[in-house]
Amino acid sequence: MKVYAGLAGIPVVKSSISYIDGEKGFLEYRGIPIQELVENSSYLETSYLLVFGKLPSKDKLSRFINDIKNNLYLDDSVLKFLKDIPSSTHPMKVLQSIIPVLSSKDPNTDVLDEKHHYSSLVNLLGQVPTIIASWKRIQEGKEPVEPDPELSYSGNFLYMMRGEKPDELEERIFDKCLILHAEHTINASTFTAIVVASTLADFYSAVSSAVGSLSGRLHGGANERVFYMLSAIKDIDDIPAIIDKKLKNKERIMGFGHRVYKTYDPRAKLIKQMLQEISSIKGDSKLLKVAMEFEKVATQRLKEKRIYPNIDFYSGVLYSLFGIPPAFYTPVFAMARISGWIAHCKEYIKENKLFRPTQIYDGGHNIHYIPPEKRG
Ligand code: COA
Repeated sequence: MKVYAGLAGIPVVKSSISYIDGEKGFLEYRGIPIQELVENSSYLETSYLLVFGKLPSKDKLSRFINDIKNNLYLDDSVLKFLKDIPSSTHPMKVLQSIIPVLSSKDPNTDVLDEKHHYSSLVNLLGQVPTIIASWKRIQEGKEPVEPDPELSYSGNFLYMMRGEKPDELEERIFDKCLILHAEHTINASTFTAIVVASTLADFYSAVSSAVGSLSGRLHGGANERVFYMLSAIKDIDDIPAIIDKKLKNKERIMGFGHRVYKTYDPRAKLIKQMLQEISSIKGDSKLLKVAMEFEKVATQRLKEKRIYPNIDFYSGVLYSLFGIPPAFYTPVFAMARISGWIAHCKEYIKENKLFRPTQIYDGGHNIHYIPPEKRG
């Protein structure tokens, strides 16, 4: 028997939700190229596509959006819970802890009943952005901003985060970012979600566990680290020496490399284009200049190993232009990924099999208990 470290290259599911060609740098959701969705769709329409398998009719989409808008408000007890959390708590930990609490107000959490999946979906899509934005305001010592259902999904989130309405460009680009983050085959957090769902725990538990998995710096947590790495660079001329030092010390360069892409991540390409669009209108940011030079030098050094920028390299740079604080970059990723996680849970439990891998035991046998006073 052989151990497959990190399950690399081992299929554990059949799925029709998304597809990556890591050699060509190609990504599809339900067979539709990501570029087409970013150009033409909205985050909520894409979410519907991911979860239900096809693009919705006009009526179905507007019902879906309404159901989400009816769930934007947090219960007073949830707000009180948020206010009682120590203010230094990282927003990913807040999200991970509070998502299961949302299930207490949802009487429809039986994962074996397909109709109940809808309830978890619209509840989570509605309330998670409000939780993230409320936590930002509470951490700043301010009152949360009430949702505005008249705004678009993305417009409302940016409004609740900042207390002022975003302009059309910000709203449109932010929504496209959510599309890019919505789904990405069976990565660590999605695998976590389906492992939890395979026990028939409800979708709130699956999503909360996935949030914990996403928070790590080898996964979604990389975007926050990229920001710190880039903003610590004082002078663009220092970049080659900084990168060489990191590589010499065998440090991972955050926002670079991917288990599946062995070429440029198509999502990183799209985010970079959006950054260029936004800065051509609003003016260049120093961080973007640093990021582009960093990318150039790091790619020269790493392309021999087929390591290129991933989505997390540029997403934080973009969010910084929207006034989103670094600790909230990964929560934005998490809120977008809810539809992907739920799509996978829904698909997996249709033919559910409890995850129970095996191990190769390499410990001892017949070792006897020694009382504390006789231990060396
Ligand atoms: N910076 C520097 N070297 C890197 C690297 C990075 N970001 N990513 C991989 N490598 C190197 C490893 O050091 C290793 O080199 P070696 O063969 O000389 O020892 C080689 O590439 C293979 O690394 P491995 O860990 O086996 O690749 P992986 O496919 O498991 O790694 C990641 C995938 C994402 C974990 C890895 O690229 C990484 O840590 N990236 C930084 C964190 C990040 O941006 N995460 C978000 C991913 S979307």
